Amino acid sequence: MRYSRIVGTGSYLPERIVTNTELESRIDTNDAWIVSRTGIEARHVAAEQESTSDLAQRAAERAMEAAGVTTDDIDLIIVATTTSDMVFPSTACILQAKLGIKQGAAFDVQAVCTGFIYALATADKMVASGMHKCALVVGAEVFSRLLDWNDRRTCVLFGDGAGAVVIKQSDEPGIYSSHLHADGNYAHILRVTGGIAEGKVRGNPYLEMDGQAVFKLAVRVLGECAQEALAHNGMSSDQLDWLIPHQANMRIIKATADRLKLPMEQVVTTVARHGNTSAASVPLALDAAVRDGRVQPGQNVMLQGVGGGMTWGSILLRW
Ligand code: UT7
Repeated sequence: MRYSRIVGTGSYLPERIVTNTELESRIDTNDAWIVSRTGIEARHVAAEQESTSDLAQRAAERAMEAAGVTTDDIDLIIVATTTSDMVFPSTACILQAKLGIKQGAAFDVQAVCTGFIYALATADKMVASGMHKCALVVGAEVFSRLLDWNDRRTCVLFGDGAGAVVIKQSDEPGIYSSHLHADGNYAHILRVTGGIAEGKVRGNPYLEMDGQAVFKLAVRVLGECAQEALAHNGMSSDQLDWLIPHQANMRIIKATADRLKLPMEQVVTTVARHGNTSAASVPLALDAAVRDGRVQPGQNVMLQGVGGGMTWGSILLRW
């Protein structure tokens, strides 16, 4: 077997929904600004006692149910997150225990909003090679906890959630190819500098962003790595059925679709209802489109991420 394929998807969003109108009552912002600049109307925010691994667990259980696999089948867990429950152990190990899984490997991947793309690319190689047979790949975040809720430039943009897929070995694609990139020279345009040392947080514990620099880089690299994935597989964009990009900003998504000459009807978007859920955004959008029947067997799907690092990447697959 040379390939891996996704055999089930699942997702979970915390109950509490924070609308733009609610934010208007708390900070100097307004619904019209947020909608026109980002397309975001609302986001979900985790309850105080909910952790990333709790969200991940719900999404993982739904993905395993959809895939028809049990805890005995899973021999690899990769969790993409920037908001791990604790410094260590990894959220993947915590999730493994919560799911009652005792075998296999479990680790986290940190590539911020590109995390799920990095995690799925890694799991694909580990499963396609035969090293592991059945992997759970999760993107889960409580990003709301990295935000200064008095900073209108950042707090309106993000939300919490989790998405998961189960992948298995396959004779047929499945995942055609993955294309991952990073450029640490752009670390300063999107970051949380805080770290823990000697019992204290050192640096700023809140997200800092140069919004316009991130915007420009995102539009450029998403266009480039979409073309890279298509060229690698000898395909053109008219052979794509679905683009499922990172859900940060509707204007970035539209610009990427324009560059691919792809109509918006073929682009899955959840950013209006979810905001930017970082590593969870792509699997959340994928699960939505699978469950409502938009994504059908045999279709070509491109997943894309871009985020802190800066990191970016795309995965081309046949559903
Ligand atoms: O996963 C990647 C994560 N990050 C991103 O994808 C972010 C990419 N960047 C963006 O999406 C956009 O740059 C933003 C949506 C963050 C900002 O849009 P912009 O068009 O670049 O706005 P701006 O930063 O140039 O701000 C324009 C104005 C400023 O006022 P002045 O200086 O012109 O008076 C801001 O203070 O809008 C003001 N502003 C707001 N007004 C109302 C900034 N945030 C808000 C707000 N509500 N929430």
